[in-house]
Amino acid sequence: GKRCKKAIIDHPRVASYAFAFDIDGVILNGPQTIPYAREAVRMLNGNNKYHILVPYIFVTNGGGRPEAARAQDLSKRLGTHISTDQIIQGHTPMKGLAGTYENVLVVGGVSDTCRGIAEGYGFKNVYIPLDIMYWNPSVSPYYQLSEEDKKVCKKNLDFSKIKIDAILVFADSRNWAADQQIILELLMSDGGYMGTVSKTYTGGPGIYFAHSDFIWSTDYKLSRYGMGALQVSIAALYKETTGSDLKVTRFGKPQRGTFRYAEKILSKWREDVLEEYVEVLAEENEEKNAGSVMDDEEELTRKVIRGVHKASENVHQLFDDSESDEEEDDDDDNNSYEGLTFQNLSIHKHQIPRASTVYFVGDTPDSDILFSNAHDESWFSILVKTGVYKEGTVPKYKPKKICDNVLEAVKFAITREA
Ligand code: G3P
Ligand code: MG
Repeated sequence: GKRCKKAIIDHPRVASYAFAFDIDGVILNGPQTIPYAREAVRMLNGNNKYHILVPYIFVTNGGGRPEAARAQDLSKRLGTHISTDQIIQGHTPMKGLAGTYENVLVVGGVSDTCRGIAEGYGFKNVYIPLDIMYWNPSVSPYYQLSEEDKKVCKKNLDFSKIKIDAILVFADSRNWAADQQIILELLMSDGGYMGTVSKTYTGGPGIYFAHSDFIWSTDYKLSRYGMGALQVSIAALYKETTGSDLKVTRFGKPQRGTFRYAEKILSKWREDVLEEYVEVLAEENEEKNAGSVMDDEEELTRKVIRGVHKASENVHQLFDDSESDEEEDDDDDNNSYEGLTFQNLSIHKHQIPRASTVYFVGDTPDSDILFSNAHDESWFSILVKTGVYKEGTVPKYKPKKICDNVLEAVKFAITREA
């Protein structure tokens, strides 16, 4: 026990707390990387005066690229390896709908990229507005398909015979006029068939939005309208036509479902970080003890590895809405974790404890600060001044702390935790 503890103290420790970052307005401004971001993640990677490794994930409402591509891009920008498992985009939890709907219309993003993402999530028949415009260009009278558009659309389809089961808005629309025309037609259609009208206006498919950010931060000096604004526009047109309120399902921040999803991803990630850390220790032990009889230190380390593996297996279906979030414990005391700590927190019975505090760094009060404040006491909201929020204004939701930028936020938390 004691010797194992010593080995761990000699190495960077794994923090009991963690970070979650918003991306636009915190890490990026449009195509630019915010210069403080690199140093911020470098510090979390153990380059701080306490030699402590702080697990972190990214929770963005943005999307339009596969999670793996997003991870690669962030890795380059931040000069460190960011794993796909560290990234939650607005549409990421929508993969949970793949088993429910057969034919989906996916809206938003560049070209047919979002079709690829949805197929990657397991959706079977994924259509995009361009497919519909190719089928019948009169659907959107003022939009002419370009040669590029024609290359990516699905051809030989008859949308008067294809039943669209759900409309999924994955990313910001690049063509509001055409996309709205098609979305509204389907919402009011008889059963999801183009060219039909439901008598009650209630026969159409449901609509899901990856997030509801009304505005967001780019490299322009003022915020830009986002997917939430498109939602407002569609709802207004729907109400004007039907007299009823549009029902929508929202993903992304500040939704509770996304919060629960983020917590699962974060605990899985913390487990992975710990597992890696334990493996490094085990390798070092093996080197030290080469040829000698397995001593209690090594045996303990092996037990810990087995325990962590077991814990990973126990991470149940993500985004499972049932209340049984608790992992089942058996009474097998063989896996004693005494001595291996998440900075002062002992690990009991195959279960990595929850992060003591999750620092969530965001730029948008309505989305990020509400998200962080509303769902669990252990989350600590930090608002930065590099995005939507501007100094001198009163944020609609009060953060626990305001910092100039992401680096100041990381420094603040590391000092607070020391
Ligand atoms: O479209 C993306 C934007 O609305 C927000 O992204 O990273 O600030 O959540 P983010
Ligand atoms: Mg943001």
